[in-house]
Amino acid sequence: ALYASAGVTAVALPLDDEGVALEPLRSSGVRAVVTTPAHQFPTGLAYSARRRAELLDWARSVDGIVLEDDYDGDFRYDRAPVGALQGLDPDHVAYTGSVSKSLAPGLRLGWLLVPESWTEEVVERKRTMDLGHPALDQALFARFLERGDYDRQLRRCQRAYRDRRDALVAALDAHFPGSEVSGIAAGLHVIATLPRRYGPEERFLARMAEAGVAVRPLSAYAHAPAGPEGDKEIRLVLGYAHVPPARIAEGVRLMAEAATG
Ligand SMILES: Cc1ncc(COP(=O)(O)O)c(C=O)c1O
Repeated sequence: ALYASAGVTAVALPLDDEGVALEPLRSSGVRAVVTTPAHQFPTGLAYSARRRAELLDWARSVDGIVLEDDYDGDFRYDRAPVGALQGLDPDHVAYTGSVSKSLAPGLRLGWLLVPESWTEEVVERKRTMDLGHPALDQALFARFLERGDYDRQLRRCQRAYRDRRDALVAALDAHFPGSEVSGIAAGLHVIATLPRRYGPEERFLARMAEAGVAVRPLSAYAHAPAGPEGDKEIRLVLGYAHVPPARIAEGVRLMAEAATG
């Protein structure tokens, strides 16, 4: 909807195990691709080193641009954060990030690093869109950064989110035995694939709705219906960042009760 309102036609591209699938990208004829390489949204897949390099090769070959949405790049729990693509080729990558996951989404504060040759036009467009963000919020945030408070805040969030993720994985293990949980190395949500005995998905979702539990299946994010194999699995996108561990455990217990009718 955002792209359409800006007069841009968006083309949906499939993923493979390493990231956005290259052949469909090449043959699509597009010259700009929007990606979340550190932690694909919503699958949680981290792009392979090879695919990251291939993506940059593609951008250079079409004189195009990769929009790197690093929306949760700050939250990687099991190893050091993956470096941004932007640093590898600043002329072919535009990088975006925000404080939405680390302070509050309502602040609407973020950043955009674009190729130098784009700067003037981006600044101009921003001016005609909304005359800019509130100066006071930005000045306060700059102060917060300079004093090291933002680093401390990120570390605090890392700890809290890791505890919440662990609580969610443990609760799924206890209440939905046999589930597979993926996308857990980073970010603020996991994908839980439930054993087939909980299916079909439609009945499962109806039971959740009846019990007043709000859950979204991965299928709700797809541009095209899943193949026959995909239809049999229930894959849930479970965000955990805003819920304390005890409530996560309670929520998953409620889900399990509702699922078994
Ligand atoms: C893929 C993706 N990018 C970015 C964001 C954050 O958007 P913003 O920084 O505008 O709040 C989200 C929020 O959920 C998201 O899912």
